Amino acid sequence: MEAAKKTTQADLIKEIVDDSLYETNTAIPAIVDSFSASDKTVDVTPALQKTFEDGSKLYLPQIKGVPVIYPQAANFAIVFPIAVGDSVLLIFSQRSIERWKERGGKLDPLDVRKHDLSDAVAIPGLYKIAGGEAVEAGKVKIKYHDALIEIEETNRIKVSNDNGSIVLEADGNVDIDTGTNGAARLNDEIKSTVGDDAVFWSFILTLFTTFNSHVHPIGTPNTGPPTPLLGTYPTTLTGKITAGSNKVKIG
Ligand SMILES: [Fe+2]
Repeated sequence: MEAAKKTTQADLIKEIVDDSLYETNTAIPAIVDSFSASDKTVDVTPALQKTFEDGSKLYLPQIKGVPVIYPQAANFAIVFPIAVGDSVLLIFSQRSIERWKERGGKLDPLDVRKHDLSDAVAIPGLYKIAGGEAVEAGKVKIKYHDALIEIEETNRIKVSNDNGSIVLEADGNVDIDTGTNGAARLNDEIKSTVGDDAVFWSFILTLFTTFNSHVHPIGTPNTGPPTPLLGTYPTTLTGKITAGSNKVKIG
């Protein structure tokens, strides 16, 4: 017959520590239930169930007014709206942040609670594996719906939406949309094809025909038609852009 296992002092201490740890909130994923842009807070529900000693399972309660951590400093900020259903990482402060949330700075929290559920802060961007926006090699992306800014390690920068794009190439060239057409600048030469203007071209032909065939109704007989104009008809015009945009500068 096997001897009953004795409970040692070490076992008791371990059990106490385990119980204490079990009640200590540290960090946990959560799902956003609502977002306040003015307060920059979310109401969230922790995503992972808690299992109790009797085997029952329970979701932790919704936590309201959780501050969202955005990357920002005094003169720098990246802020964005958060959608219902987004997942975030909650971190539970080791002291109450109740007073600090309202006042900031250094202060006495006037509360001895530790790692309390109500002292959570939220970091956006925690997704299940391969969830969220795709990461592409050599590229920093800033995206909102279909508007996208891509900064590449080659120093190429692309700004685009679902209707077009502007690219600043590493060599300084600027491509608009597909970048296959040249952009015009001040003092660039321009060329106009007269033949493309049907009305203008028809007028020129009529003018030449009329001139080359007209007669003067004087004398007997009338004078004959004039000596026809020599040379060929011009079919193109050239010129130069004499005023450029103050807002669009390329090259
Ligand atoms: Fe004449």
